[in-house]
Amino acid sequence: MQQLAGPLTYQDWDLDKAREAVLEYAGRTGGVMIALHRIQEIFGYIDDSAMPMLGKVFNLSRAEVHGIASFYHDFKREKPGRYTVKVCQAEACQAMGSEKLTEEIKAFLGADFHETSADGNFTLEPVYCLGNCACSPNIMIDTQTYGRVSIDGFKSLASTLAKAVNEQEAK
Ligand code: FES
Repeated sequence: MQQLAGPLTYQDWDLDKAREAVLEYAGRTGGVMIALHRIQEIFGYIDDSAMPMLGKVFNLSRAEVHGIASFYHDFKREKPGRYTVKVCQAEACQAMGSEKLTEEIKAFLGADFHETSADGNFTLEPVYCLGNCACSPNIMIDTQTYGRVSIDGFKSLASTLAKAVNEQEAK
């Protein structure tokens, strides 16, 4: 059994902290991309209020920063759930039932792709091949890949992870 990781912990959005974190990239080639990644690493997403701030720091218009942040789908614009669940939609996983699994996971979490479950624990995303086709269907939770996943297996994983959240919050 793979070791389950704890929930990712992000800081609450703070524009001043975000500015501080990106100032060192000002003037660097591709600095705004590094800055967007850094902000997402700290806060889990890039708040709208970061756009004018990044424009000033990197000497770009707000629209230019917004364009970059929206072009790359990896940049999240809303606070994600504590865990990100990616369900593989590529061919090998499809052949092993990932479409049905996806629908079952959506129903279980009450969330569609790019949405977060009501308890704030799980954000659901599609992914296209995790390089683990021999063990289809595959999902990834944060950075950990799980193969041969059934809906029962997913439910049990999700409940273990939700428990970890409750324990962490009780501390
Ligand atoms: S197709 Fe799903 S891991 Fe390759």
